Parts: sequence; structure tokens; C-alpha cells
Amino acid sequence: MVLEVVAIAVWAMLPAYVPNNVAVLAGGGRPIDGGRTWGGKRVLGDGKTWRGTAFGIAAGLALALALDAIAGDAGSTLGVDLPGFPITAALALPAGAMLGDVGASFLKRRTGRERGAAFPGVDQLDFVVGALGLTALAARDWFGDVFEPPVLLAVLVLTPVLHVGTNVIAYQLGFKDEPW
Ligand code: CTP
Ligand code: MG
Repeated sequence: MVLEVVAIAVWAMLPAYVPNNVAVLAGGGRPIDGGRTWGGKRVLGDGKTWRGTAFGIAAGLALALALDAIAGDAGSTLGVDLPGFPITAALALPAGAMLGDVGASFLKRRTGRERGAAFPGVDQLDFVVGALGLTALAARDWFGDVFEPPVLLAVLVLTPVLHVGTNVIAYQLGFKDEPW
């Protein structure tokens, strides 16, 4: 029962987890804000680039489509009814994750935090809120079926743990400048 809830939570959120990590690897080039400032601070900063965002969304979308193709087999192997991903959800999960991350940088700059500064809580949950929010709008019925209250709770508890873990690993491998 608990294992089933956790399996569905991780499975359904995988297309939202991958974009941030791919953006770290693919990032660089022109920043989204084009260097513009607002109130004396960058609108978003150099850490949010078109390339990182585009590759992040593309990777999450590709993963969702791949998971959709194997949902039946993976589910019967695990003995869990794993959901497939309609195209609306396959797009909204990664796009929402990137949107949440960009929104967090906007808030970080408005509160005087430099690029790379930690914003505890926001850094760990920005992309979850973005992904769940956009998916609830774009794929309403699917969202309601998949993210039942226990699954939603599992996502909110597990995501910060997984996020901190992968970022520490990415930092130690030298892919990321800070461990958050
Ligand atoms: N990245 C990117 N585009 C994004 C998100 C991330 O190019 N939309 C890349 C950038 O190279 C960024 C790195 O991934 O520096 C790490 O991402 P993140 O920690 O989100 O950015 P920070 O550099 O820490 O900047 P911020 O303080 O705005 O979060
Ligand atoms: Mg950062």
C-alpha cells in the first residue's frame, strides 16, 4: 500500500524531476532575461537560460512519452497500476517544473539573493508547485485520477529528499556550483 503510493508518486513525477538536472548539464548561452534588470537587480539572472530551459522541457517530455509506452509492462512487473501520460500531462509536467524554477529565481532576485544563493524550501519545492499547478490546469482529469491525496502527500514529502540528494551528487561530481 505505502509502496504502491510511493511508486505512483515517483513514476508520475519523473518527467518533472528530470528537467532541472538536464538544465544544469545543458545550460549556458543567452539568459532568458537578456541581461535586463528590474529595481536594480537582474529580472532572473544568468542561471536561467533559453538552452537549459528548452533542453530540460524536451528531456522531460521525451521521458514522459517513453514511460507512457512502458507503463503497462512496468506496472505489471511491479504489481502496481502505473499511469500513462497523455500529451497534455507529458508537456505540462516538465514545462511547469521549469516555470516554477524560473519563478523562484524571479523571487530570489526580488529578495536580494544573488545567483546561486540558497532559498531554503523554495529551492526544493518550486518545481513541484510549478509542475503540479500547470498539470492541474492543463490535464485536469488525469491530475485528479493520478494525484489522489496520499500520492500528493508522498510527492510533497519525497521530492525535497530526492532533490537534495541528486543536487549533492551533482555538486560532488562537479556539474553544479552549489549543493542546492
Ligand atoms: N540552468 C539553465 N536554465 C534553467 C535552469 C538552470 O541554464 N532554466 C542551468 C544554469 O547553468 C544554472 C544551473 O543550471 O546555473 C543551476 O540551476 P539553478 O540552481 O536553478 O540556478 P542558479 O545558477 O543557482 O541560479 P538561481 O539563484 O537563479 O537559482
Ligand atoms: Mg541554484
